[in-house]
Amino acid sequence: MEFCNTFLQIPTLILTLLLSISPTTQQQLAALDLNALHQITDTLTDVKNGGFFSTWNFSSPENPCSSFAGVTCSVINGQLRVTALLLGTGLSDSPGLAGTISPDGIYALSELTQLILYPGIVTGFIPSQLGRRLKNLRVISLTNNRLTGTIPETISELQNLHTLDLSHNKLTGVIPPTLASALPELKVLVLAYNNLAGNIPEFSEESQLIHLDLRNNLLSGTLPETMPATLRYLSLSSNGLWGPLNSVSSSYLVYLDLSMNKFSGPIPDSFFSSSLSSMYLQRNNLSGEVPPPSPSSFFESYGPGSTIDLSHNFLSGEIPIFLDTVETLFLNNNHFTGKVPRNYVTNVFAGTTRTLYLQHNYLSSFPMENPRDMVLPDGVALCLSYNCMVPPAVGLTACPASAGGPFSRPFRQCSVFNIGNSIG
Ligand SMILES: *[C@@H]1O[C@H](CO)[C@@H](O)[C@H](O)[C@H]1NC(C)=O
Ligand SMILES: *[C@@H]1O[C@H](CO)[C@@H](O)[C@H](O)[C@H]1NC(C)=O
Repeated sequence: MEFCNTFLQIPTLILTLLLSISPTTQQQLAALDLNALHQITDTLTDVKNGGFFSTWNFSSPENPCSSFAGVTCSVINGQLRVTALLLGTGLSDSPGLAGTISPDGIYALSELTQLILYPGIVTGFIPSQLGRRLKNLRVISLTNNRLTGTIPETISELQNLHTLDLSHNKLTGVIPPTLASALPELKVLVLAYNNLAGNIPEFSEESQLIHLDLRNNLLSGTLPETMPATLRYLSLSSNGLWGPLNSVSSSYLVYLDLSMNKFSGPIPDSFFSSSLSSMYLQRNNLSGEVPPPSPSSFFESYGPGSTIDLSHNFLSGEIPIFLDTVETLFLNNNHFTGKVPRNYVTNVFAGTTRTLYLQHNYLSSFPMENPRDMVLPDGVALCLSYNCMVPPAVGLTACPASAGGPFSRPFRQCSVFNIGNSIG
């Protein structure tokens, strides 16, 4: 019975195979593209025995489309053309490629939709020819190499570009303004870990960007007047940006990292929304009280996995009650005063808050029912040192080394707030 079944399926199987393979096996790769692949190997090589180019044998009668690693082809206007080029094995233990990206080679591959260079030690410029001719490119990813020079302005001519990732290179110069304003399809822009300077360019009102990562560059100035409202992920961490944060629209944000800049002024109330559950604003120049969540944000509560870091700013007023359900919360090194809300204490001892850093503020009380009976759950970190109270013994063990110094703030610094020493 089983034999019979298999036997009947064989002709169908052969037919399917023929249909799916025949265009690539019978047709030759367009001469232009074959020549382009050849030129790419003139300037790019495997690092030691990386093993990527070993399949690129130009004297073999086999079709590169089926035998060369990383080459994908399609029949376009009756010709077999290269449509995707993945350079490098992409394996984590592979040393990647060395050399440079040949402008002449790339230029000819006019039907390319994806160009990916896996991590390696490739040097030189990003060829400006990319934008001039490769109009179908949707994905460019050239991360973790040693590319230098500026981001070619011609990239803005790629009207179909969806993803541009040039992170972890040594790129200099400014972000071409047209990159933010002239690419209607751009959803993902990652230029993190380079040496890019100047301002963040203005985005067009039609921008559909959902992921913007510019962290660890040398960007300066204030934020653009409007940031794309479609953003879900925004990281501008570790730059030299300053000014207010009002232009960040948080409607769809789930991840926001503006840490380690010089942003000033208050934190917009729209930032406090239960969907934006990973927020890093530490080490800025933010001041004022932490506002309650905006009424339009349908705030419920934070939960498992949530992290909010507001540490190392100049925030004042009382500890906000609504942050009590955050799992990892850093409010240390600010100017907070008053008592820690009772729910914070309950949640730390229940273990639903895993990290609560309140050190280096002016807090007057951590209201525990009976300090002697309470034991911190395993893995919970609580730090209360250098406040206007004698920290309960339970809080002393879990401070980071950086909290150092005396356990309480000198009394004369606390008297300005007219408060006493107490553990509540
Ligand atoms: C390339 O292909 C030719 C022809 O099939 C073969 O003789 C040669 O050994 C191959 N070279 C390598 C490095 O595999
Ligand atoms: C930091 O904020 C204060 C006011 O709160 C302001 O006077 C100062 O210029 C700001 N510094 C920077 C670098 O923005």
